[in-house]
Amino acid sequence: MKLLITGASGFLGGRAAAMLGDRFEVLAPGHAQLEITDREAVRRYFQEARPDLVFHCAAMSDVGQCEREPERSRRINIDGARNIAGAASEIGAKCLLCSSDQVYAGSAVMEAHREDETVEPAPLYGREKLSAERECLAVNPDAVLLRLTWMYDTKTIVPGEKSDFFRGLLTRMKEEAPLRYSLHDRRGLTYVRDVVRNLVPAFDLPGGVYNFGSPNTLPVGRTMAETVREILRRADLDPSAVEGDAGSTPSAERNLCMDPAKLESYGIRFPETSERIGELMAGARLSL
Ligand SMILES: NC(=O)c1ccc[n+]([C@@H]2O[C@H](COP(=O)([O-])OP(=O)(O)OC[C@H]3O[C@@H](n4cnc5c(N)ncnc54)[C@H](OP(=O)(O)O)[C@@H]3O)[C@@H](O)[C@H]2O)c1
Repeated sequence: MKLLITGASGFLGGRAAAMLGDRFEVLAPGHAQLEITDREAVRRYFQEARPDLVFHCAAMSDVGQCEREPERSRRINIDGARNIAGAASEIGAKCLLCSSDQVYAGSAVMEAHREDETVEPAPLYGREKLSAERECLAVNPDAVLLRLTWMYDTKTIVPGEKSDFFRGLLTRMKEEAPLRYSLHDRRGLTYVRDVVRNLVPAFDLPGGVYNFGSPNTLPVGRTMAETVREILRRADLDPSAVEGDAGSTPSAERNLCMDPAKLESYGIRFPETSERIGELMAGARLSL
């Protein structure tokens, strides 16, 4: 089976290409070989390469950059995604596309979010992801839109790669820097390798939108600071080192936690956020 991965020089696409290479014939064109904003170029690529499966990771993924470059981010995040979904539909390839838990940003709902909730995302990136979901499903009802959480890995795969939550926490602990985490933010965090593993069964999902990441089951109102304390407790490390930071972004209470029930009804599960990070941190603790 041929699997096309777009954005394979990026964080998620790179790991997907490396991990799925022994299971699929992976096609991983770089940006120069496949410009996703060029609809005709995308169609031509699909007609020639004829992938059976598509995992669309190419995007402008930096929330701040989207705000600074709204026109370019619209072309990449909405038009680009629609071009991929449409071209996949034309050749009958099953297509998974990356959306984000940021579609829930700005919601007043403080319970875990469900896919059928009415959302009006505040950040431009969240609005673009929501529009992309709708436009992709309009051109390809069989497309699967994955609402991803903030992801992390335990290791860097490309020199100079930007850090993430896990590696950031580990570095702060090694350097004995203050462990300050938000008192306002509540979210799930997902091990990127769990995302890649769950992509294989996700290719069998019916078209639609799915929360696709680890839930955070700490009681409602618990924040990132408490999540990090729980992670340290699970890794047998001292949780009292964590300080709550009221001055960090976001400045007001935000809940991005996702309800996994829809995905789990298809037999696809992610481990709980602090349980998974705690387990990985327990392994990494030896290097502290
Ligand atoms: N990372 C997270 O924690 C996270 C969380 C939620 C959702 N997501 C979503 O998951 C997906 C993957 O994220 P990521 O973190 O892996 O992103 P990333 O590291 O920023 O990688 C983005 C990729 O897209 C490519 N790209 C950008 N513009 C392109 C264009 N016009 N044509 C072709 N390729 C283009 C980039 O290649 P060049 O660098 O060569 O341009 C790069 O390979 C994105 O949709 C993102 O929004 C990510």
